[in-house]
Amino acid sequence: MKIAMIGAGYVGLVSGACFADFGHTVCCVDTDPAKIAALEDGRIPIFEPGLDTLVADNVRHSRLTFSTEVSGAVAQADVVFIAVGTPSRRGDGFADLSYVYAAARDIAASLDGYTVVVTKSTVPVGTGDEVERIIREARPDAAFAVVSNPEFLREGAAISDFKRPDRIVIGAEDDRAASVMREVYQPLYLNQAPILVTGRRTAELTKYAANAFLATKITFINEIADLCEQVGANVQEVARGIGLDNRIGAKFLHAGPGYGGSCFPKDTLALVKTAQDSGTPLRLVEAVVAVNDQRKRAMARKVTAACGGSVRGKTIAILGLTFKPNTDDMRDAPSLAIVAGLQDGGARIRAYDPEGMAGARALMPDITYTDDPYECATGADALVIVTEWNAFRALDWTELAARMPGRTVVDLRNVYRPDDIARHGFRYVGVGVPNA
Ligand code: UDX
Repeated sequence: MKIAMIGAGYVGLVSGACFADFGHTVCCVDTDPAKIAALEDGRIPIFEPGLDTLVADNVRHSRLTFSTEVSGAVAQADVVFIAVGTPSRRGDGFADLSYVYAAARDIAASLDGYTVVVTKSTVPVGTGDEVERIIREARPDAAFAVVSNPEFLREGAAISDFKRPDRIVIGAEDDRAASVMREVYQPLYLNQAPILVTGRRTAELTKYAANAFLATKITFINEIADLCEQVGANVQEVARGIGLDNRIGAKFLHAGPGYGGSCFPKDTLALVKTAQDSGTPLRLVEAVVAVNDQRKRAMARKVTAACGGSVRGKTIAILGLTFKPNTDDMRDAPSLAIVAGLQDGGARIRAYDPEGMAGARALMPDITYTDDPYECATGADALVIVTEWNAFRALDWTELAARMPGRTVVDLRNVYRPDDIARHGFRYVGVGVPNA
């Protein structure tokens, strides 16, 4: 199959490279000439484990090419994916669909022969209808179908999520389009991934419902963690106790500083807005959004409390800035609210992150960035683990103790067992677990 991928951002690049790896011929198009030049030069603009070799392999076999021109790629394609950004619109939180609609107009101008146009970007219910209307208006005679095929990729695990998905959701309004999409995903039959063919609006909503449910699960366990702290229970054991129930499932029950990233915050907010607009407010999801927002700032208060009630004049070492490990993504990272809260309280911040420092520097210019965890901890009154990078899972606590005048560790990801840290003379504060 010939595939055009409009948008060579995170989703477009990962999906394009994986489709090429399935044996399809893929052209990734992006309006940013610098990005395309970099890709043609073998440089990957994002950090995603395994993506560089996957791109290089498929470029070498001529299955993957890059272009700034929509027209050529679309004219040749059997399937055109729209994988452009849908950020939260400033002011009202609705998804900003201007890039999606601009892509639809560009695609319309170049369609040649029966083409399936697929929205891969996360888009509110009804966007597929609008994409169809835009193309139909521009090209009344064109042979095309508009399909929704949401992605469920996790940053840091995107390639394996793409190649070994739990399911593939295809929202199509006619059989021909659905069978083209089955062919696109044919190589995954080997993995026996279930392909769910639904109506287009159902597929669009399924994506939002999945992310809202996962965000709810995280927020639920975070609130239970707070309760555990008050009543002397252990959230990790509660999570295991409930997670072993198959109806609940063990995943996404890690208590922490609140969810961040490019999807959950934006998608939960967009779903809330869509629901309110439809006169069917999702009160549970509204609560999840509010609780999670408050939680990030609350983590600064937790650190302050661990430091004896004030951080004024104190030096706090922050390990981990990205919203989760194995990414350089700083979007809606809890670290942003935590650092701001601590700075407002008068703290000096030192920080280290294995991949996120370039992004963090742009957002938080007024903190001291360091080259490794030990340099970060030097001179610190307290050490705070904000992101659970593997590099922080086996720290040398003797070395840290020698470098830190203070003896407080706040582990916002429950990476360590409290007693293991206490042994080295530190006071340990985790999330929803007894302090040590
Ligand atoms: C998510 C979805 O998992 C993916 O299917 C969707 O397409 C895009 O959004 P991603 O944002 O990359 O992927 O990361 P994910 O691993 O889901 O984590 C999201 C956030 O939740 C992170 O901030 C993470 O730290 C937090 N989280 C996750 C928890 O706090 N506890 C958990 O148990 C799981």
